[in-house]
Amino acid sequence: MGGKIPREIDVHMGGADMTCQDCHVTKNHQIAGASTMLATYSARVSCTDCHDEKTVHANSPAGKMIAKHLKTVACETCHIPAIARGGIATKLHWDWSYVGKEMKELEGKEEFGREVYAKHKGVFKWGVNVIPTYMWYNGKVERYLLGDKLDPNTVLDLNKPMGSIKDPKAKIYPFKVHTGKQPYDVKYKYLLPFRVWKSLWSDYNWQKAIELSAKEMGLPYSGNFDFVSTAYYISVRHEVAPKEMALTCNDCHFKRRLDWKALGYPDDPALVGGRFTRGIVKVKKSK
Ligand code: HEC
Ligand code: HEC
Ligand code: HEC
Ligand code: HEC
Repeated sequence: MGGKIPREIDVHMGGADMTCQDCHVTKNHQIAGASTMLATYSARVSCTDCHDEKTVHANSPAGKMIAKHLKTVACETCHIPAIARGGIATKLHWDWSYVGKEMKELEGKEEFGREVYAKHKGVFKWGVNVIPTYMWYNGKVERYLLGDKLDPNTVLDLNKPMGSIKDPKAKIYPFKVHTGKQPYDVKYKYLLPFRVWKSLWSDYNWQKAIELSAKEMGLPYSGNFDFVSTAYYISVRHEVAPKEMALTCNDCHFKRRLDWKALGYPDDPALVGGRFTRGIVKVKKSK
């Protein structure tokens, strides 16, 4: 990267000069931290490893009100107002269906300094200052596995965060949603693997690239493919902003940054009550 990260972009790695390992503590070559992309991890990393949620907002005028949100709103949701704030664009979309096509009108074109088309990769979309998508997340992810059936008429979630308004262990977290288009088997209705190296990337022959890869993986291929829309979720945990930039009451309750209906609320909870006050979450009384 070169140079120091400004504090506005990341209070930890910029402001406090922290390194990755300060949070992702490494023990016997095992790096702590779960990823929405991988199924395994040795230990979790969380904001409360270092900050005590009982005292952290004690000096804030709105501290008591913020504290009331902590069972439902993750730290990251308020403290990472947007991603790719430093000017370096983040990739939001990758459409493989354009591979091999001549897209003269897109050649050499850029979005935030990044190419939007490459003949061997397809079409991309990029973003800066991207407002994340807010979803319930209980720490688990529902993964699409090789051979799972799909519905070509809807967007296929590849690694959907699990949890809901009714799940007391779930909180509202920020995610980057990476969308795309990938080949699937029109008859068997599952995603198809394809070989890029010495195949698709040399001759743009999808049929051959799929056949080769499907055979290697032992996945039957009907011979007919098309493209399906997919979504991939990447948790937003970095780029914590200085406290002055944290979301305030209005961002959520007046400007409606959160989609209440999509999250399962009948309306803005500041008006109609939260999930605990409304009894949406059934909390078991311990005996
Ligand atoms: C201030 C603390 C902090 C710092 C510094 C930090 N991380 Fe993280 N990172 C987290 C947290 C919290 C998570 C979520 C891990 C979990 O759920 O167990 C995370 C998750 C991740 C993930 C998984 C993301 C996903 O969902 O797939 C990767 C990869 C990662 N960090 C890489 C890095 C790298 C590389 C650096 C240094 C450049 C770094 N982190 C610095 C806190 C930090
Ligand atoms: C490994 C310890 C560690 C972890 C994990 C960690 N922090 Fe911090 N955090 C610090 C330290 C140290 C500072 C003081 C940095 C400074 O402001 O100079 C800090 C400062 C902050 C600040 C105050 C910035 C300001 O404006 O004064 C916020 C907000 C914050 N952290 C939020 C978070 C969130 C959200 C997470 C989880 C994604 C997190 N922290 C994870 C150690 C940590
Ligand atoms: C509902 C939004 C919200 C949530 C959720 C939230 N915070 Fe904050 N936090 C704020 C705001 C707003 C401030 C700034 C308050 C101020 O300056 O008066 C703040 C301030 C802070 C500070 C700076 C404290 C100081 O005195 O310098 C830290 C550190 C911090 N939060 C960490 C966290 C951690 C860790 C979590 C999760 C356990 C969390 N926050 C959850 C909104 C939130
Ligand atoms: C990140 C978005 C966000 C921010 C910032 C935020 N809220 Fe909320 N607020 C929520 C959510 C989500 C709920 C629902 C909580 C639940 O279901 O437990 C909620 C619930 C409430 C409720 C209803 C509480 C209940 O249990 O009946 C009130 C009142 C409220 N917020 C006021 C505020 C005030 C005042 C602030 C500023 C100090 C604030 N909120 C900041 C997202 C936010």
